[in-house]
Amino acid sequence: MGILDRHKVLEKNATLLLIGSLAVVTIGGIVEIAPLFYLENTIEDVEGVRPYSPLELAGREIYIREGCYVCHSQMIRPMRDEVERYGHYSLAAESKYDHPFQWGSKRTGPDLARVGGRYSDEWHVDHLTDPQSVVPESVMPKYGFLSNAIIEPTYITDLMETHAIVGVPYTEEMIAEAQADFLVQVDPDGDYDALVERYPGAVVSNFDGQEAVTEMDALIAYLQMLGTLVDFSTFTPDASR
Ligand code: HEC
Repeated sequence: MGILDRHKVLEKNATLLLIGSLAVVTIGGIVEIAPLFYLENTIEDVEGVRPYSPLELAGREIYIREGCYVCHSQMIRPMRDEVERYGHYSLAAESKYDHPFQWGSKRTGPDLARVGGRYSDEWHVDHLTDPQSVVPESVMPKYGFLSNAIIEPTYITDLMETHAIVGVPYTEEMIAEAQADFLVQVDPDGDYDALVERYPGAVVSNFDGQEAVTEMDALIAYLQMLGTLVDFSTFTPDASR
């Protein structure tokens, strides 16, 4: 009896075939899933990646609240056309402190994973206030009301503590200084050294040019850091994984 003949037994008996298929799928599943329980971490650590500063985190909340993800992705795929347009493909580590992640699945507008530093703060204010004044054919809605929405760091400590519960390594010091850090990030004349030490690469600026801290400030602080944390001139993927 050849192997094909023996297989006929399975093929002619529905119950046997079902049991056989189940066995094969189970083995396949275990092989894929079991290693995940033994790996300490499936995400490669990359130098430069850090938790969001309090103001950036507040800006990220506004990004989510306003549904920017409905039109914008934040994941550059490792394909040539994407890399040429947007920059180095996104690393898993770059969104490891995102709860929830903002990869998105729709690109009515461009990917924003590396938009940080690409435009000036003034450009962002103009664009968010009236996208069509900058890009006439744009279908992006106007978000000028964010400039009138004053925000205070009332809940930022709670928010950071919540992120800490799900694994973002906010230290006690970061949480204790959250309110001060939030305010000093929009004050280029302030004493922001400790903020930048805690959150290297944080952009300190009066983002919207107004005295009060607004949702516009927070959103632009977030946009200006997107994709800027990893230095790709020195980054080499860890080939041992
Ligand atoms: C209805 C879809 C839509 C929504 C919602 C939307 N955008 Fe856009 N966005 C676009 C389109 C289309 C463009 C490209 C034209 C332009 O620059 O306005 C764009 C461009 C941008 C750019 C410039 C990107 C680049 O690389 O040139 C930024 C930054 C941006 N959007 C941020 C946001 C933020 C922040 C929000 C949420 C507050 C948002 N967008 C909501 C459609 C959208």
